[in-house]
Amino acid sequence: MTDKPGAAIAGTGSYIPEKVLSNHDLAKMVDTSDEWIIQRTGIKERHIAGEGETTASMGAIASERALEDAGIEAQQIDAIICATATPEMPLPATACFIQDKLGAERACAFDITAACSGFVYGLEICKMFVESGRYKHVLLVGSETLSRITDYTDRGTCILFGDGAGAAVLKATDDPQRRIIYTSLKSDGSKWDMLKLPGCGSRYPASHEVLENRMQYMKVQGRAIYKFAVNSMQQLILDAMKNCNLSVDDVKMVVPHQVNRRIIDSATQKLGFPAEKVYINIDRCGNTSSASVPIALDEARRTGKLAEGDTVIMVAFGGGLTWGSAVVKL
Ligand code: ACO
Repeated sequence: MTDKPGAAIAGTGSYIPEKVLSNHDLAKMVDTSDEWIIQRTGIKERHIAGEGETTASMGAIASERALEDAGIEAQQIDAIICATATPEMPLPATACFIQDKLGAERACAFDITAACSGFVYGLEICKMFVESGRYKHVLLVGSETLSRITDYTDRGTCILFGDGAGAAVLKATDDPQRRIIYTSLKSDGSKWDMLKLPGCGSRYPASHEVLENRMQYMKVQGRAIYKFAVNSMQQLILDAMKNCNLSVDDVKMVVPHQVNRRIIDSATQKLGFPAEKVYINIDRCGNTSSASVPIALDEARRTGKLAEGDTVIMVAFGGGLTWGSAVVKL
């Protein structure tokens, strides 16, 4: 037992919309093929929000499932943090919409923007909130409706992204064997241009010109990000293992941001992780940005691939650039 409380993952939940957008569907929209997309990314299909589904509605369903899994009532939640690059509206925070839907009246609620690294960034914030003794129950959500900011005339980006939400309930614990044991966050703002949505912010407010130039959609330097991502994923996992004194045998599973199957395979194989120790759902979900890690974590728990007592490493990187890792004893 230790005096300092830790933040344990008490429950997880996720929601993936029903509507499927397959590679074959995309091949009817842009000059691409099922073979090319599978070979270059590992993606076969992704799920897209239906009419009326939004970042907050999907985030709320994932949150309800996480609360149920944790056995915690919405009224017990002290703070709600939503990581998203596709908020319900620029103002107010998506976390406030989720609070309203859940009836989590006691909670403070706010969003964080760290693109695909958002959930891992959120884990560090939750860790600090709980370890300080300030909060006992924190709900962390990653939710994205990327289909609404994807340019379906750009074959280099539209093949990558999907929609969905994942959530985790973090709970104060005295048990040193069950908690977030390590987090590490990094950013390099000089590389902001590598992944951006330039329009409809303070630099280029909404205008006819912004829409004509399709600046309301994501612009991605795929090849440059690819190179960065391979190195950073390997380094992130290695640093986490070194700092926590873990070998491959000690780690039950790596849950990486589902960015590209080739990037994940290359990084984890170089470190000696066998395929069964790396969670993959990119074939079904594509890249869901900040929802990617919590959806994967929830699926791994619900399918019994991860259980209480297991050590899991989560790694992510994305626009900003931002990147980070978290090591959790479940
Ligand atoms: N179908 C067919 N051909 C295509 C497609 C497509 N969908 N997209 C690009 N091509 C063509 C290009 O035009 C190019 O043709 P050219 O040689 O005649 O000029 C050729 O394929 C190679 O293009 P590259 O961009 O070099 O292809 P690459 O192998 O790098 O794959 C991809 C592109 C899949 C985007 C890859 O770079 C990638 O996964 N990057 C990282 C992921 C990423 O950027 N994610 C964005 C989110 S960020 C994040 O999550 C961290």
